[in-house]
Amino acid sequence: MTEAFSPKNIIVTGGAGFIGSNFVHYVVDNHPDTHVTVLDALTYAGNLDNLQGIPDDRLTFVHGNICDAELLDELVPQHDAIVHYAAESHNDNSIADPEPFLRTNVEGTFRLLEAVRKYGVRYHHISTDEVYGDLALDDPARFTEDTPYHPSSPYSSTKASSDLLVRAWTRTYGLKTTISNCSNNYGPYQHVEKFIPRQITNILSGIRPKLYGDGLNVRDWIHTDDHSSAVWTILTKGRVGETYLIGADGEKNNLDVLKLILTRMGKDEDAFDHVKDRPGHDRRYAIDSTKLRTELGWRPEHTNFESGLDKTIEWYAQHQDWWERTKAATEARYKSQGQ
Ligand code: NAD
Ligand code: TYD
Repeated sequence: MTEAFSPKNIIVTGGAGFIGSNFVHYVVDNHPDTHVTVLDALTYAGNLDNLQGIPDDRLTFVHGNICDAELLDELVPQHDAIVHYAAESHNDNSIADPEPFLRTNVEGTFRLLEAVRKYGVRYHHISTDEVYGDLALDDPARFTEDTPYHPSSPYSSTKASSDLLVRAWTRTYGLKTTISNCSNNYGPYQHVEKFIPRQITNILSGIRPKLYGDGLNVRDWIHTDDHSSAVWTILTKGRVGETYLIGADGEKNNLDVLKLILTRMGKDEDAFDHVKDRPGHDRRYAIDSTKLRTELGWRPEHTNFESGLDKTIEWYAQHQDWWERTKAATEARYKSQGQ
């Protein structure tokens, strides 16, 4: 299928975070005619080192907040599309302190939509499968684009709110938007607060990994490079006004993932601690990405989870400087929460 839209000058919000920076690398490496402007507030989760090595003529970095309407008035008219990744992204943080999630995820999306309305640029909205709530372990169902919204946490409810704003602004004001809801990502540059990097860096630091509850919760893992190729496909070929689910058939429970990390890192598979469960912890997520695959011809490439995990372990082992700075503070916060 040919591209219906060829963006030349895009804004990537949250482009100094985990998935956003991987997307920026993907665009720079694969689409030489597209210039990227990263707009990022550099919160605790943003890191300019994630964008190292990108030539100056391909990337402009703007240090700023998506809630800043004046800044958006300056930036947006010089671009033809916005890909919106910026968010407060961690469930545990949202349970401890929901307020920044309301501001960035809800108000920030509102500000961007108002700028899109004013300047008529194409907008792609990055969201999560967590807006659908959870599935039972023995339920054969998976989420589709028609599954009703049923978010459980402050994080997922603010992401659901932002999706609904996009739909309402699209219908009422005729904006050119698309939405994608993706499953759990893994890969390089992921903050050590998240499950897979936390356990890898615990082992590298001589700390025992920490498993919430019984560990039978299922997540549907996708490599972040596959998320990037899916987003590019939707941005350039997707039908305006549509939602696409992104997933790579990667369902696994946390206990199995943790045992795999331990054994791949040469440890006993039982060398971890059970810790307090997350309040309201979603049991299972699972994505049916048939629409994206059949309508737009997208396919994931990194479908061997063990090999993707090995490369991720290797990346954290080789980039100790990158994660060491935030590790102690992250573990201190978890400890104060009994996790
Ligand atoms: P992250 O926490 O690693 O990065 C978020 C980035 O946004 C950081 O660089 C941060 O500095 C920036 N940011 C935060 N608030 C901002 C603001 N007000 N203005 C400008 N920049 C701001 O997050 P991530 O895991 O890379 O997630 C990126 C997006 O993907 C989010 O929208 C998230 O909901 C979505 N998503 C994540 C996953 C996952 O597995 N992590 C899965 C599906 C969807
Ligand atoms: P996380 O990476 O926070 O992603 P999400 O909450 O968006 O799914 O957590 C993934 C799973 O791992 C989730 O079921 C919670 C669990 N978990 C642990 O068991 N131990 C941990 O230390 C963390 C951070 C998460």
